[in-house]
Amino acid sequence: MQPLTFITLSKNGESSEKLRDALVGSGRAHVLSDCGSPDQMLADVVRLRPSAAIITVAADNSEKEFALIKQLVAASPDTAIITAAHDPAPALILSSMRSGAREFLQLPIIADEFHAVLDRIAELSAAGKNTSQKSGRVIAVFSGKGGTGVSFFGTNLAAAMGVPTLLIDLDLQAGDAASFLGLDTKYSLADFVNNRARLDDSLMTSLVTPHSANLAVLAAPLEAHEAEDIKPQDVSEILHLLRQRYERIVLDLPHTFDPVTVAALDLADDILLVLTLDIPGIRSTRRALKVFDRLDYPRRKVHVVVNRWTKSIDVELKKVETHLGEQLIGFVPNDYNKVMNSINLGQPLVQADPASKVTIEIKRIAALVSGSSQPPSSQPRKRLLGVFGRQNTPSPVDLSTILEDMA
Ligand SMILES: Nc1ncnc2c1ncn2[C@@H]1O[C@H](COP(=O)(O)OP(=O)(O)O)[C@@H](O)[C@H]1O
Ligand SMILES: [Mg+2]
Repeated sequence: MQPLTFITLSKNGESSEKLRDALVGSGRAHVLSDCGSPDQMLADVVRLRPSAAIITVAADNSEKEFALIKQLVAASPDTAIITAAHDPAPALILSSMRSGAREFLQLPIIADEFHAVLDRIAELSAAGKNTSQKSGRVIAVFSGKGGTGVSFFGTNLAAAMGVPTLLIDLDLQAGDAASFLGLDTKYSLADFVNNRARLDDSLMTSLVTPHSANLAVLAAPLEAHEAEDIKPQDVSEILHLLRQRYERIVLDLPHTFDPVTVAALDLADDILLVLTLDIPGIRSTRRALKVFDRLDYPRRKVHVVVNRWTKSIDVELKKVETHLGEQLIGFVPNDYNKVMNSINLGQPLVQADPASKVTIEIKRIAALVSGSSQPPSSQPRKRLLGVFGRQNTPSPVDLSTILEDMA
């Protein structure tokens, strides 16, 4: 199913936040922007052509909004207009329908009604032109803690996709994804943002750096100060435009929940949450999962992957899973020499060393998130435990007992 895209305009911050939560929580809607003014909404709708625009109206004093609806219908006929109001007065509903709104949503949101509206928007957008628009899958790679291997795993995952893929380095202050791929980049995300009003196909092509047949990179800003000009809204917009051009977009993210990172996580179809199996790693993963819950992400969008897995880690995986409330879906082996070499040479391991166990596991995970493989089951674990099966020698620290104490 194609994700639905939304732009919202609301008169007060509170209702826009609730709307956003409901849209994100539905697991099938992406909020591209939340506008502060009718002018901004018109500009954003024309540029981004969302599936729907939601406009909050009030019984008195909504002339500006009704005028906006007429403009939107004329400017972007495939965008369904939804009005939302606390007071479902018949006169208000009538006026909004007469202006061209397709749906009316009562606030605060009533779950059943909200889903019915989403269903109808989905039908409309399937019937309209929106279906001819490609919508690539956005895969965010994240960890609650630095040094976990997000950039290594993310770059290799992108290189393992086997379909046209763009890697976007969203670690704005300290991005190193391009260097992991051995690329010298001339342009960056900052150039995308600075040219956002005139981004057409040829400009977009010239701003990304090609790596190999199926992989290109959009680098983090080359100068740290440029990062400050990049707003969450810019990232939502750019992802929306780029997902129409690539089958997969892999995001290399920093380790904080800053607004730009949250905007990217919001838009992602899948979040690969990377951890190492040590106490700080497990703790930060549990924290990140709680933040995802607060952000109303459906858990099916989140997949937890272990990096630097070795047989010497003495921890019962079942206990970690219980502690996190999530299954571990992948186990990328620890291989210091190979990984270090690949990073230093700027050659992704999945391409330079197809036979290595790290490669094999990253390729399996790439197939898993692409939906071309079986869902996670105990099968990979059995296989991995076969390779890294625990020995009977006791290791110095038993993480399992510590986990029990932490719970
Ligand atoms: N599977 C692995 N085996 C061995 N070392 C790894 C592995 N993954 C990452 N590393 C090491 O961890 C370090 C940090 O990785 P990086 O991808 O930069 O982390 P992050 O982006 O999460 O901060 C790298 O220098 C790399 O050598
Ligand atoms: Mg990194």
